[in-house]
Amino acid sequence: MQKQTNPEQAKNSFPEPSAEVKAHSDQLKQLIQDAIKAQDGKITFADYMNMALYAPGLGYYSAGLKKFGKQGDFITAPEISPLFSQCLALQCIHIMQQSNQQVLLEVGAGSGIMAIELVLELEKQAKLPEQYLILELSAELRDRQQQAIKARLPHLYERFMWLDCLPEKPFSGIVIANELLDAMPVHMLKLEQDTTRERYVALDDNNNFIWLDDSPENPRLQKIAENIRAVQQPLAHLNDKPDQPYITEVNLQAIDWIKSIADILTAGAILLVDYGYTAQEYYHPQRSMGTLMCHYQRHRHDDPFYLPGLQDITAHIDFSSIAQAANDCGLKVCGFTTQAHFLMAGGLVELTKNLDPDDIIHFTEVARQIKMLTLPEEMGELFKVILLAKDKTLSLPAFKLQNFQNRL
Ligand SMILES: C[S@@+](CC[C@H](N)C(=O)[O-])C[C@H]1O[C@@H](n2cnc3c(N)ncnc32)[C@H](O)[C@@H]1O
Repeated sequence: MQKQTNPEQAKNSFPEPSAEVKAHSDQLKQLIQDAIKAQDGKITFADYMNMALYAPGLGYYSAGLKKFGKQGDFITAPEISPLFSQCLALQCIHIMQQSNQQVLLEVGAGSGIMAIELVLELEKQAKLPEQYLILELSAELRDRQQQAIKARLPHLYERFMWLDCLPEKPFSGIVIANELLDAMPVHMLKLEQDTTRERYVALDDNNNFIWLDDSPENPRLQKIAENIRAVQQPLAHLNDKPDQPYITEVNLQAIDWIKSIADILTAGAILLVDYGYTAQEYYHPQRSMGTLMCHYQRHRHDDPFYLPGLQDITAHIDFSSIAQAANDCGLKVCGFTTQAHFLMAGGLVELTKNLDPDDIIHFTEVARQIKMLTLPEEMGELFKVILLAKDKTLSLPAFKLQNFQNRL
């Protein structure tokens, strides 16, 4: 369960950025260095990650780099296959019917491909929503989404609307997001035997970013650290390095985001797909280096200080904390399962039953896509889907094969 990458070794084999791209990273580096100096020499890792990903015009998601897809740094499920978005569309139809919803809100829409395929499927099923709203933090991606949707769905473009912030209360609809929560900035904790430290970002004598461990300033982190220790206690016998500190991440923004959605939602549901675990798996004593991960041109490694702005930084999701936040603010958890189970029970079989096996090229390509989405060693098991509902319990076919919500 430990991450195996050796950052120094790994980075030697990475492609060198061009001088222009490197200058872009240096500009962002300078901005973060200035922020550290302005704040008495240290910022939280969440602040570092927020700037590295979202600093206007410079952050990884805010600048014009090609991030997703075959030429990007990583590939997400909707980029792999339209089948992913089509299955989501079929489940949205069930939600629309059970809770009488006519509006979809996608948060963090990336290239816009999921919106396109999902709406195309809804159109095919004669179940178009009145509106498809998109809330996207990155101005650059928002622009890219608008261009892509205008090009592929000119006849439906007027149903789309981009928001600058969450809709005002009362909002009723279906909120969907794929790989949103893992792109939110996390705090880093270092649990020692009796002490909890937060990992801040500081500068060494040469102005390079370094870790600096100190007391957490936010009291919520102390409370969460206690909860983590409580989860770990029954598993203590599995810890083969009890004297070593335990490093992990806490995604306060994801918890707050769930609370803000619960606050505006008067009826409807939230369907989230992301990679992660239940708390017991997440805080397993053997996962002692956490789940923080960076993607640079299809290379995975664990050094978040490498070329800020040119690489993605992400952490897995603790779905128990998402369920807890939902319960705390009046949402019901109606389903939790793996991506493979969700897709298998959620329409994948029906959607592919008319494939022509004699069209070998197409058939093989679709088979490859299904393998990537569902095999346990690809995305099938690590990625999970959680369904939260506001007004009542919802029952979707996609959770009928396996529903693991009692493990949360
Ligand atoms: C990992 S990408 C996933 C993109 C897309 N959903 C996909 O599956 O290909 C994360 C996306 O979430 C956006 N994002 C991150 N935090 C956000 C927030 N608080 N509100 C809206 N969008 C956000 C990013 O700009 C980016 O578009």
